Amino acid sequence: MAQRRYTEQEEALEISSLRRIIAAYADYQDAAERDVKRYERSFKRLPRAHKELLFNLGLKYQRLRWCISMNASFIMNMLEAFEPPFDMSQYVDVDGHDCGENMHGHCHEDCAHSVERGDCFRSSVSLSNSELHQPDGCPRKDDKAHELSKETGNRDGVVDMEGCSQPVGDKLEALQGVDKSCSSDKSADTEANCQDTDCVACSADENVTTRQCMAPSLQLNVPPIDVDKVRCIIRNIVRDWAQEGQKERDECYKPILEELNRLFPNRSKQRPPSCLVPGAGLGRLALEISTLGFVSQGNEFSYYMMICSSFILNHTQEANEWTIYPWIHSNCNSLSDNDQLRPVSFPDIHPSCSGITEGFSMCAGDFVEVYNEESQECAWDAVVTCFFLDTAHNIVEYIEIISKVLKDGGVWINLGPLLYHFADSYGPDDDMSIELSLEDVKRVAYHYGFVMEVERMVDTTYTANMKSMMLNRYRAVFWTMRKNASRSKAQKH
Ligand SMILES: C[S@@+](CC[C@H](N)C(=O)[O-])C[C@H]1O[C@@H](n2cnc3c(N)ncnc32)[C@H](O)[C@@H]1O
Repeated sequence: MAQRRYTEQEEALEISSLRRIIAAYADYQDAAERDVKRYERSFKRLPRAHKELLFNLGLKYQRLRWCISMNASFIMNMLEAFEPPFDMSQYVDVDGHDCGENMHGHCHEDCAHSVERGDCFRSSVSLSNSELHQPDGCPRKDDKAHELSKETGNRDGVVDMEGCSQPVGDKLEALQGVDKSCSSDKSADTEANCQDTDCVACSADENVTTRQCMAPSLQLNVPPIDVDKVRCIIRNIVRDWAQEGQKERDECYKPILEELNRLFPNRSKQRPPSCLVPGAGLGRLALEISTLGFVSQGNEFSYYMMICSSFILNHTQEANEWTIYPWIHSNCNSLSDNDQLRPVSFPDIHPSCSGITEGFSMCAGDFVEVYNEESQECAWDAVVTCFFLDTAHNIVEYIEIISKVLKDGGVWINLGPLLYHFADSYGPDDDMSIELSLEDVKRVAYHYGFVMEVERMVDTTYTANMKSMMLNRYRAVFWTMRKNASRSKAQKH
């Protein structure tokens, strides 16, 4: 794929956006601590008798602090491993919160199917060219994969965080002064402390917090909505990479994988079919498609997502290496404190040992910008969209591009609702939002030459806490459409 050149202004905006997102990750611990302090303030206002009745809450707040520090420790490790696609020491003075008004994120209650796009994101970027390490003892792919890798320019055992732009600069810590002493060791200490039933407080006040470990240029004022996005990412980790997310993956990803398997029965290792996954989130579906024997490419434009997926895909040493506490941020609808504070380990599989097909990559950038390129025309055998279509400002444009990138006879598999992300954005930007019914979406698809082959409804959730007393369920539509170019009524330009 051609490397995209940035104007100075575009690059400054990208860096500003990325700095803001890193700052949001770094602020996670302080923000969570502020919440615990708020709970404590409310507790203090209780009459003495009520306090005595609820004596367990004091302990719960200490446990919460410990969970927060564990989550923060994971985040710190992730940020340390992150290789920014830009020289982050540039344009420090253009930063600030001038991008704040452009915020598009809808973090619905329960993180339902939210957009986590980085603000001011204008164009496609490559996050890193780092390698998916193939540890000793991992079965290597067959020799043919090597040949393919030469053809495609991909390295064996590598998840390319595809070069849609210029190559990666130096590592974040080198540029930004992330203090390594701030990360994992702290959580080990904390864990030791918390083995005690008295659970020594691991307050962000008493310890160095992630935020304090960052260079001054990253210690920005973080709007609450940015911190919400970090919390949504934590929930997305469960969806994509934890055993606890298996049910959701079975509901959403399994029908897609089964359909791909059915539609491409004779997949050749020499010439595997290709599949594009726009809006790939944390990359699990794209990886599963790769292990099924496809040259799979995930596309994602959120730095929040890409930083995290890059870490899981490229830096995992072993299955269940990390433990987080995804559900601690809401005290509502819990059956018990233990449910709320339960640990979740991830990743449930070791990505580089999962048998990926050569050519697996993640391409960072806006789907509309990256795949509207001429080089993408008729490039893909399959396009898979899962909880993606309704992220569009203009869904017609998405469908038009999907049709364009598919080969004639290629298939489009879709699963998801039509919860248009910009439907209720009342911001100053007056975001465009075209909100079509399913009937109209299908009519548009037929216009672009698609023929419906399979259609049904699928009940599912999105990043749901399965132990919560409240579950949002979607009646998502699942379809397989095939491109028949001769039927397209779209004008060729
Ligand atoms: C609701 S999430 C679904 C993620 C994943 N497919 C899943 O099922 O878990 C939609 C994803 O699409 C990404 N996205 C939204 N608009 C995009 C665009 N124009 N280009 C690329 N990615 C986009 C968002 O950042 C988000 O990760």
